[in-house]
Amino acid sequence: MKQNEISGIRREYTKGKLTKCSVSDNPFTQFDEWLDEAVAIEEEEPTAMIVATVSPEGHPSTRTVLLKGVEDGKFIFYTNYESRKGQQLAANPYISLSFVWHKPERQVHIEGKAEKCSPEESDAYFASRPYKSRIGARISPQSKVIDGRIGIIRAFAREAIRLAGQEVKRPDNWGGFAVTPTRMEFWQGRENRLHDRILYTRLADGNWKKERLAP
Ligand SMILES: Cc1cc2nc3c(=O)[nH]c(=O)nc-3n(C[C@H](O)[C@H](O)[C@H](O)COP(=O)(O)O)c2cc1C
Repeated sequence: MKQNEISGIRREYTKGKLTKCSVSDNPFTQFDEWLDEAVAIEEEEPTAMIVATVSPEGHPSTRTVLLKGVEDGKFIFYTNYESRKGQQLAANPYISLSFVWHKPERQVHIEGKAEKCSPEESDAYFASRPYKSRIGARISPQSKVIDGRIGIIRAFAREAIRLAGQEVKRPDNWGGFAVTPTRMEFWQGRENRLHDRILYTRLADGNWKKERLAP
């Protein structure tokens, strides 16, 4: 695609508005409402979020991950603990999550700290995954360089045969992260790029402060 074709792609955002009064006092309630709406209008992958982590050298990296729950004020996702993101979180637990829902012209940015879920919580979620996803999680050295696809396909087949008829247990290097937010921003696209942005910041007493940000 040519440069002027790329720069010419734009749309007006007109689907909604946000005020400090119209949003909930609790950002989790607000998130729940927006996620429900994204699901109801059949947003493509409504639980997909961009997860940003930072290397020990201070270099950020991002990737898409699926949200698997919001429990006790924490956002939960599952991954390989030895993956690039897993290693970065082990060294530096500060994390950012971003949801973008294109149909309602909304985004949510979350910043906070990640901790591993308990083995029991990870076991329970792992057990709910489809059989083949469980086998896949056991054999894939996520984020490592591999020679080709064939080695992974063979490892998958070998593991499926080895475990035939047995319970497929969660490997120790796979599990959940729970993110406790300190900051959550709700963004609604508006006309002429004068978007609405409402920022919630967690106060020392656990309550949330609400402020409007400039677009
Ligand atoms: C829609 C979508 C959903 C994904 N969900 C997950 C997920 O839940 N967990 C996961 O580990 N990777 C998921 N991935 C793959 C990640 O984006 C990424 O490739 C992988 O986790 C390795 O990332 P890393 O090398 O930065 O650790 C998903 C990718 C896409 C496009």
